[in-house]
Amino acid sequence: MEAMKICCIGAGYVGGPTMAMIAHKCSDIEVTVVDLNEARIAAWNSGDLPVYEPGLEEIVSQNREKNLFFSTDVDDKVREADVIFISVNTPTKDYGSGSGQAADLRFVESCARGIARAGGGDKIVVEKSTVPVRTAQMVKEILDSSNNGHSYQVISNPEFLAEGTAMTDLENPDRVLIGGDTSDAGQVAVEKVVSIYAQWVPRERIITTNLWSSELSKLTANAFLAQRISSINAISALCEASEANVDEVAKAIGTDSRIGPKFLKSSIGFGGSCFQKDVLNLCYLCRHFDLPQVAEYWEQVIRMNEYQKERFVTRLLDSMFNTVSGKRIAILGYAFKKDTNDARESPAIGICTRLLEEKANLAIYDPRVTKQSILSTLGWSEESAKGRVEFCTSAEEACQKSHAIALLTEWDEFKELDYTKIYEKMHQPAILFDGRNLLDLEELRKIGYRANGIGRV
Ligand code: UDX
Ligand code: UDX
Repeated sequence: MEAMKICCIGAGYVGGPTMAMIAHKCSDIEVTVVDLNEARIAAWNSGDLPVYEPGLEEIVSQNREKNLFFSTDVDDKVREADVIFISVNTPTKDYGSGSGQAADLRFVESCARGIARAGGGDKIVVEKSTVPVRTAQMVKEILDSSNNGHSYQVISNPEFLAEGTAMTDLENPDRVLIGGDTSDAGQVAVEKVVSIYAQWVPRERIITTNLWSSELSKLTANAFLAQRISSINAISALCEASEANVDEVAKAIGTDSRIGPKFLKSSIGFGGSCFQKDVLNLCYLCRHFDLPQVAEYWEQVIRMNEYQKERFVTRLLDSMFNTVSGKRIAILGYAFKKDTNDARESPAIGICTRLLEEKANLAIYDPRVTKQSILSTLGWSEESAKGRVEFCTSAEEACQKSHAIALLTEWDEFKELDYTKIYEKMHQPAILFDGRNLLDLEELRKIGYRANGIGRV
């Protein structure tokens, strides 16, 4: 039997790592990742990958040019493949009907059209991108209407990997979800996709459902996770107003096995390319199906997240005599979480924008996020940033002479800094926020940072 060929359209944060893991675990499968973006493909073929994930580089370099390929030759690779994964971006629509809530499916649609055009025999088309419920129907209709004599099965196989831990999530997933048509042909296609993951994932962790359950499960999982963060962040506001400590509350409730300890870390708010987008998408779907009460329930998760970010800026201003104008603020961390170079929808964007509006000067340091990515997410040019935003190459440099430190991403290296020394080189008196609280050295030490001595940071 000829080896199975997989083609993945979209060499992004999801497509790249997922395909690298499939190639790594399935030496009998030929995997090609294609993308329209030539620079991105060139980067995947170089020593400097476009995505930073712990463990990714090793796996790519071990398998590249053996059974893992990166190419811009979309049509040919699609034509040759048995199984095609669609892993293109599905941003929130910023125009027309559903603007601000619905997912923009034009890239998924153009992939479906491209697959139909490419021909090359019967194919299984797998939705990897997070999509609204019933998107598979659209993909199916486009494929079937091509009348090219080939038959297509559409499968939903949503991704649950979290950035920063993508490789371990892929290697050892809680579950793999595969949804397909309930017809016989649909079930054969489901089994074919199951057979890929079954090469390394225990069979009982591979869940098969119908298409719609699979699509909706992805949105629901992310909505529940985002809701948990908004819930603990809501409690953090109450803790600050009373004398409760939110970490203690989180620990106390997390020991209840029904609640569990994970995802209870209060923060400046959640970020990333999934949570907000997926919750908005869920709300849009509810309204579409005339369920306004359900939509309003989930919308509150987003409102609480916005409130948390604004509350952080207000607290920072309050503790600096209500003005940061002309003051230097060190921003430690810009990525939406540690161990990723991804700044999309990072809470740091809104917070930096607000501080710049208040006329603060920012000294930003992040171990992985590039200057270009910071500028583009802020909507500033290199020219306009001059004198207002400084890009630093170390945390120490950013903190020097600053009036305040805002710790916006929990990179491990920030825990290792010598805050006593840093404090001596700051503008006096200086303050530090860990994203929630104004901290003194004692408090900093309590949450695992290296700080000796006493007093404010
Ligand atoms: C994307 C989706 O946003 C997310 O909903 C889904 O769960 C997984 O896929 P991500 O991989 O993070 O997430 O997106 P991104 O890093 O933007 O990568 C998408 C890639 O697709 C880009 O490199 C883009 O150039 C490429 N693309 C997009 C195509 O090759 N063809 C297209 O038509 C559109
Ligand atoms: C998320 C889901 O976890 C993943 O399953 C899905 O496939 C994609 O979306 P990701 O966005 O990469 O993954 O990261 P995640 O670890 O979920 O964190 C998202 C945001 O929530 C980050 O900004 C993080 O800082 C924040 N967060 C997380 C908290 O504020 N508190 C927590 O306790 C956990």
